[in-house]
Amino acid sequence: LWTMENFAQEQIKAIKEQVGDRRVLCALSGGVDSSVAATLVHQAIGDKLTCIFVDHGLLRKDEGDQVEAIFKNRFKMNFIRVNCEDRFLSKLAGVSDPEQKRKIIGTEFIRVFEEESSKLNDIDFLLQGTIYPDVIESGNKNAAVIKSHHNVGGLPDDVDFELIEPLRNLFKDEVRAVGEEIGLAHDLVWRQPFPGPGLAIRIMGDITKEKLVILQEADYVFRDEIAKAGLDEEIWQYFAVLPGNRSVGVMGDERTYDYTIGLRAVTSVDGMTSDWARIPYDVLEKISTRIVNEVKHVSRIVYDITSKPPSTIEWE
Ligand code: XMP
Repeated sequence: LWTMENFAQEQIKAIKEQVGDRRVLCALSGGVDSSVAATLVHQAIGDKLTCIFVDHGLLRKDEGDQVEAIFKNRFKMNFIRVNCEDRFLSKLAGVSDPEQKRKIIGTEFIRVFEEESSKLNDIDFLLQGTIYPDVIESGNKNAAVIKSHHNVGGLPDDVDFELIEPLRNLFKDEVRAVGEEIGLAHDLVWRQPFPGPGLAIRIMGDITKEKLVILQEADYVFRDEIAKAGLDEEIWQYFAVLPGNRSVGVMGDERTYDYTIGLRAVTSVDGMTSDWARIPYDVLEKISTRIVNEVKHVSRIVYDITSKPPSTIEWE
C-alpha cells in the first residue's frame, strides 16, 4: 500500500544506507520542498546533515528568525545561517530590471553557498528538494523562458557532490503530506509559494532598505488579516508589492507624498493560470486601514484585479 507514512519510512531507511558514515550538505531556504527534504534526511542521519541557510535579507518580515527557530532550535540540526542582507542590497543597488535582479541574486546566492560550503570538510552528498514538477519543467526544452524562474535553491552543475533528491517523484501535495507525516508544522507545510529572489521582485525599480522595510511591514499586515479572516488556505498566494511611485495624500492638515502599496491575491491550482481572489470588501477595508495607519510612508492602497493571463502572479 502506497502511503506517505510508508514513503517517509522507506526513504529514511534508504538514505541511511546510502549515506552510511558520510556527510550531507543542504541549502535550506525554509520553503516547503527544502524543509521537507532536510527534515527527512535529518531523521535518517542526524548530525551528518549540515544545512546552510543563506538569508539574503529579501525575505518576509521575521522569516529568517522563524526558519532558524524551527531548524536550529527545535530540530537541533547543524544549521548555519549566513546573514548577508548588506551584501545583496549593495549588489542590487540601482538595479531596476527584473531579470537583472534575478541574475544578481542567483549568482550571489551561489557564491555565498560556495564560500560557506568550502569551510566544511568531508562533504560527499548534496541534498536537493527537487520535486516532480521541477524535473518535468527542466526537461521541457520548449518551455519559453518568460521569466527566468531562478529558484535560489538551484546550485551550480559543476560541484563534485553526489546528489540526493528524495522528493524527486512527488507532486507538491504529496510533499506536503510527507511533511506533516514527519512532524513539520501544518503552517510550514502549507506555506504559500514564495519566489527565490524574494521581495526583490516585489519592489518595482531599484531596491533600497527603506522600500524593503515598508514592503515587509505592509505585507505582514496583509498576511495577518488574511489569516484572521480564515482565507489563508483558499488563496494560492497573497502578498504586497511596492510599485515605487508616490502619490499625493492628506494626513491631518498636511499634504503627504508617499508610496502606494499594491495587494495581490490569487486563486490557482498550479500557478500556471490564476484568477484574482474575491476577498470580501470588509476584509480589504481592514487591510487598507491598518496598512496606512501602521506603515509609515504609505498613503494609498490598490487591489490588483487582473487574472493570469494576461498578467502574471508576480508584478515582475
Ligand atoms: P508568475 O509571476 O510567473 O509566477 O505568474 C508563477 C509562480 O512562480 C513564482 N515565481 C518565482 N519563483 N523564482 C521563483 O522561485 C522566481 O524568479 C519567480 N518568479 C515567479 C510566483 O511566485 C508564482 O508562484
